[in-house]
Amino acid sequence: MEFSTIEIQKNLFYVGVNDRHTGLFENMWPLENGISYNSYLLKGEKNILIDPVHASCFELYLSKIRSVIGQDGTIDYLIINHMEPDHSSSISLLLNVFPKMKLVGNSKTAEFIKGFYKLDISENFIEVGEGETHKFGNFALTFYKTPMAHWPESMVTYYKESKTLFSQDLYGGFGTIDGGIFDDEIDYTAREFERARYFTNVVGKFASQILRATKKLENLEIKTICPVHGIVWRSNPEKIVKFYDDLANCRTKNGVVIAYGTMYGNTEKMADYLANTLSKNGVRDVRLFDVSKTHVSYIFTHIWLNKGLFLGSASYNNALFPVMQELISLISTHKMKNHILGIFGTYAWSGGGVKNLLEFAKNNTEFDFIDMPVEAHCSPSYDDLQHCKTLAEEMAKRVLA
Ligand code: FEO
Repeated sequence: MEFSTIEIQKNLFYVGVNDRHTGLFENMWPLENGISYNSYLLKGEKNILIDPVHASCFELYLSKIRSVIGQDGTIDYLIINHMEPDHSSSISLLLNVFPKMKLVGNSKTAEFIKGFYKLDISENFIEVGEGETHKFGNFALTFYKTPMAHWPESMVTYYKESKTLFSQDLYGGFGTIDGGIFDDEIDYTAREFERARYFTNVVGKFASQILRATKKLENLEIKTICPVHGIVWRSNPEKIVKFYDDLANCRTKNGVVIAYGTMYGNTEKMADYLANTLSKNGVRDVRLFDVSKTHVSYIFTHIWLNKGLFLGSASYNNALFPVMQELISLISTHKMKNHILGIFGTYAWSGGGVKNLLEFAKNNTEFDFIDMPVEAHCSPSYDDLQHCKTLAEEMAKRVLA
């Protein structure tokens, strides 16, 4: 089957694929809007593939490659900017089809190729170093290492002649490419939350390394950004750079997220009271999440985007409500800046919910903690709700300050 080819610019083709069948990215994060694995093909004296795709999409991928180079054409080089298997799992399949293809990466790339795929690459691996420019046929490409954005071997490739950056995971997002692949062909704001959900859950832990990578690249003249997930940015590449910069710096909005774990609705009563008081005190964006109903990846993104956070938990077998445990584990590993934290909950026997949330607050000192926890016995009394009111008033004051 032949596909109509998508030419990004002269001799540069989009050969990426959409994945609408995988349920969970990294077997953890729901893909309700799917995901794209982008791959790019430079066609010239030598044919160069930049970043492969998930092996499960290989048949379609190969058809797209063939549409550009023809049935008798070959791929001479495969540039591997990132080794996470959502991209690298098709390397062996590509080598089966194009056995003379050279693999291009850095020293850490080589370690991962051997580690994941047990390939002998002693004869077909070209190692590139920081800032080096290599000629592949008529194309000169420059490589910059961007360690931990997303993995240790992550690097980007810059094609100076057309001022194009192949940025691997950097500047990517969840969501398939439906129709137009360029930022000027679609309403790119429609997938903004999915872009944020990808950032916060998948690469957000490495926010400081992402800022370092962006800083390293800031002096390059960039007209087009080709990431490995999501759309190609050719009209407003600065939009996605700014979007990532805002997220990585935790430039939060004046909203409050209330995430709670409840069994019989008593902790939820407190959450509602807090929400109502926030609203009466001028907070316009208040979001309540029952952690048992909404996947943590969505709650976590809303938390990242908003300045205020209330965590509430019922006690469950003298411990934290188990689903809440998953959420606070995620928050703990990401060390978010610019957030204000308040705590509430209920107990019936000897506690465990609020006690563990207080432990969380003690261990996560990057939060501005409002040290006025409210804990109700079984269900909130009038006095408990008055304490919730005071707590929410203080949260509103700090958030709107
Ligand atoms: Fe899209 Fe870190 O892999």
